[in-house]
Amino acid sequence: MIDRSTIAKINDAAQIYDVVSEFVNLKKSGAGWKGLCPFHDDRSPSFTVSPARNTCRCWACGEGGGPVTFLMKHEQISYPDALKWLAKRYGIPVVEKELTPEEKAQETERDSLFAINEWAINWFETQMHETADGRAVGLAYFRGRGFRDDVMRDYRVGFAPKSRDAMTQAALREGYKEDFLVKTGLTVRRDDGTLYDRYSGRVIFPIRSVSGKVVGFGGRVLDAATKGVNQKYVNSPESSVYSKKKELYGLFEAKKAIAKADLVYMVEGYTDVMAMHQMGVENVVASSGTALTHEQIRLVKRFTTNIAVLFDGDAAGIKASQRGIDMLLADGMNVKLLMLPDGQDPDEFARKNTQEDYQQYLATHQVDFIEYKTKLLLEEAQGDPIKLSRLAGNIIQSISVIPDDITRSLYLRQASQKLGIQEKLMSDGVVRQIRKNQEEEHKRHAISAADLEYAESNGESADTTITASKKTEFLPQEKDIAALLVKYGGRICCEAEDENKQPVSLTVAEYISINLAQDNIVLENPLYRQILEETLTGILEQPGFNAESYFINHENQQIASLAFHLSQDSEQLSKIYGEQAGMPSDKELEDSTTHALASLKLAIITRQLTTLTREMNMPGISPEKSRQLLLQFKTLQEIKKMLSKTCGQRVLG
Ligand code: CTP
Ligand code: MN
Repeated sequence: MIDRSTIAKINDAAQIYDVVSEFVNLKKSGAGWKGLCPFHDDRSPSFTVSPARNTCRCWACGEGGGPVTFLMKHEQISYPDALKWLAKRYGIPVVEKELTPEEKAQETERDSLFAINEWAINWFETQMHETADGRAVGLAYFRGRGFRDDVMRDYRVGFAPKSRDAMTQAALREGYKEDFLVKTGLTVRRDDGTLYDRYSGRVIFPIRSVSGKVVGFGGRVLDAATKGVNQKYVNSPESSVYSKKKELYGLFEAKKAIAKADLVYMVEGYTDVMAMHQMGVENVVASSGTALTHEQIRLVKRFTTNIAVLFDGDAAGIKASQRGIDMLLADGMNVKLLMLPDGQDPDEFARKNTQEDYQQYLATHQVDFIEYKTKLLLEEAQGDPIKLSRLAGNIIQSISVIPDDITRSLYLRQASQKLGIQEKLMSDGVVRQIRKNQEEEHKRHAISAADLEYAESNGESADTTITASKKTEFLPQEKDIAALLVKYGGRICCEAEDENKQPVSLTVAEYISINLAQDNIVLENPLYRQILEETLTGILEQPGFNAESYFINHENQQIASLAFHLSQDSEQLSKIYGEQAGMPSDKELEDSTTHALASLKLAIITRQLTTLTREMNMPGISPEKSRQLLLQFKTLQEIKKMLSKTCGQRVLG
């Protein structure tokens, strides 16, 4: 782990021009530089580099960010790797963070498991390619299924000889510890303490993380044995290096192709991935037969937002896929579906088609989820109004989770045309469904608030537990606060007094934090909350903390991209309103912040008033309750009037 101050040093040193010009041919243009965008098929230079802002941006495809983001996207490397690249470029020594004893033990364990897995992948490969048994059984198996040697080498498949503990003994001889062997799952320990090889007599599919580390294995029985009681696939157990729901098979091999094509194909199995790759379709990954998770979606989202899911074309498939489709939609992915003929899987289909036919089929048979559902279910409904309305409900449910308003309304129009149902009726249904989703979300939140805190404190983004419907509900006024934090969070904006009546200067972030705390307000959007918290920490830990550069180069790409767009937006705004170029004065900053805070509070109060009105109009409400509510209502209205003055609005009535 790289410590905070080194990260700050790297971010300070990194110059966007230096970094981009390593990969893109740049020409001087005005105050900045221009070149062909490396992220899409650019014909005229749309990619601009702004040394002043230390960011780059493509005006055509919208990609952009600071030096770190550029490197991560362009080279498809992780955040720490991007930092190390920059450190090397600028000659900054990388200080790894001091770990606590527990962290050290954990790191040592992870290192040991990775080392064993790395040893094992080589061992399995060697067994398959260089032993008589391996060639006759393992290699022959893959060849028999039509796989080419180069594809086997790409995916580094291998073979575990049929033997009780040949692999385990070989590993022990190499000095690998028994405990760690058992933790990787390569070795199984019986109750009596004896050891045996988990994958014995199977062909091996190594599972690699997005950065190429071997995290686990899948082992398949040979055909002859499939008939027996033997399970077809045996996979690594969960361990400190392997979590099934966080990995996608084939992503490491596919990531460049995915980014290039701006599309990922999602299939079910190991052999499907290999077969498609062999057919020249290299942008393919597998969920390995499990239901798709948010973590997996987040993983591919680093490379594309377009996904085509391949299904065996049967009606059972669609029911099972419903959850996965909705999840992808809710995560803002553009989902296409692809059915292969006669319930074939991509591997079977590959064996019966030429490369051209295969690719042609994939290109011409993608449908969006509405076409897919209507096609499959409309036939089943056969004009039966009850079934038809159930189908409409099913589609409405899917549309209601889409976070983007415009995308949602486009799908709505398409669905109403396809089903022959009035658009107004459908959109009312969607609105109702969104409300229902929100209510359920609230209920879930009440229960899972503790879990959420736990997840957050463990460094997982809370975002995974929050659905799109919740997102659309966030007050837009929070965004202005976030923009202020990103642009000016660390700047002094006003004076106040501390407990001892001593004057203190407050930064924008501190002013916001204190002001919100006074009214018990917590930002609802977890990303904005994180931005506020990290700005406060940054100010404490680093003199002259530059929030904008810190967030634009943030480890969490969601935050980095958010910060990038917030800072771009505010740039646009100041252009529109003709603000003078350069920094606002302290006074201007204080006024903007006060105004943004008041607007947020006004919005919160307005929302509360709406809720109160609804409650007061409930039938059968008791006079006592009614009086109580009215009192609350009046108090809130008073506050609203005061706030409105700060916001420069007049309240009517
Ligand atoms: N799978 C698994 N355990 C099983 C069955 C399946 O982990 N007992 C996972 C594997 O990742 C497998 C995927 O689910 O690749 C899809 O399963 P299936 O379609 O049954 O296997 P195929 O990949 O088609 O395997 P093959 O073509 O070799 O039969
Ligand atoms: Mn198959």
